[in-house]
Amino acid sequence: MAQIIDGKAEAAKVREEVAIKVKARVAEGLRSPGLAVILVGANPASSIYVNKKGDACVEVGFESQIIRKAKETKQHELEALIDKLNEDDSIDGILVQLPLPEHLSADSLIDRIRADKDVDGFHPYNLGRLAARQPLLRPCTPYGVIRLLRTVFGKKDLKGKDCCIVGASNIVGRPLMLEMLLEGATVTVAHRFTKDLAAQVSRADIVVAAVGKAGLIKGEWIKEGATVIDVGINRLENGHLVGDVEFKEASERAAWITPVPGGVGPMTVAILLRNTLYACEHLH
Ligand code: GUN
Repeated sequence: MAQIIDGKAEAAKVREEVAIKVKARVAEGLRSPGLAVILVGANPASSIYVNKKGDACVEVGFESQIIRKAKETKQHELEALIDKLNEDDSIDGILVQLPLPEHLSADSLIDRIRADKDVDGFHPYNLGRLAARQPLLRPCTPYGVIRLLRTVFGKKDLKGKDCCIVGASNIVGRPLMLEMLLEGATVTVAHRFTKDLAAQVSRADIVVAAVGKAGLIKGEWIKEGATVIDVGINRLENGHLVGDVEFKEASERAAWITPVPGGVGPMTVAILLRNTLYACEHLH
């Protein structure tokens, strides 16, 4: 039976480290880090995530602004907002919550955020730094996954592990591929055109599911003793939240597994705080 990887506990540690450093800054008379979160429209899941980010900022002593815009807001209006925040010396991090309404281009908004304020780590500059083995601001969910894996393996033991990442999104799968390469793992990225997903998953020592489809990864595919990280968050018709992996069946084969909720989700927010503090202390 798998042991649970406690994302809530690990995230609490990261937040505590951030809170201590913020307190020390303020005690020295320095300003606290500032984060601006832009939410366009009222996607219910996005609203919940943004509120969580705002609450987490308050808890660690950041100055946070949640900027809510109507779903009809035009691209040029958001560009002007980003330009203003780019110029604002009290703001260390700017984040545009995704997904955006269809008439907007997320790519060009992310491009417009100053790379040293891109605390999501989505700007091509920051992705390029990661690809070149010189990470600066690292995408939050992928780095959160690495921190969770380190609680299981320690740093060295990821070397040479076979890792299968299911999902090749810009937010999780692609940057996680780069993070896992940095750790010395042998990485396979499976996606919608992968021919035999079961075969790829069943070879892996580490399986990371990041697709957003409940039950996509069957428990019987998991190798005996593998580690399973479930990034998916899916709401069933009965209101329950589940991941992309069949949790019960996978738990019978895996050695370690993340729950949903309470696994990767809290780490994303914790790393966002860490990135914002990093930007404040080292980049501004
Ligand atoms: N939507 C889902 N995950 C994320 C994230 O990590 N950052 C942003 N900005 N939007 C998201």
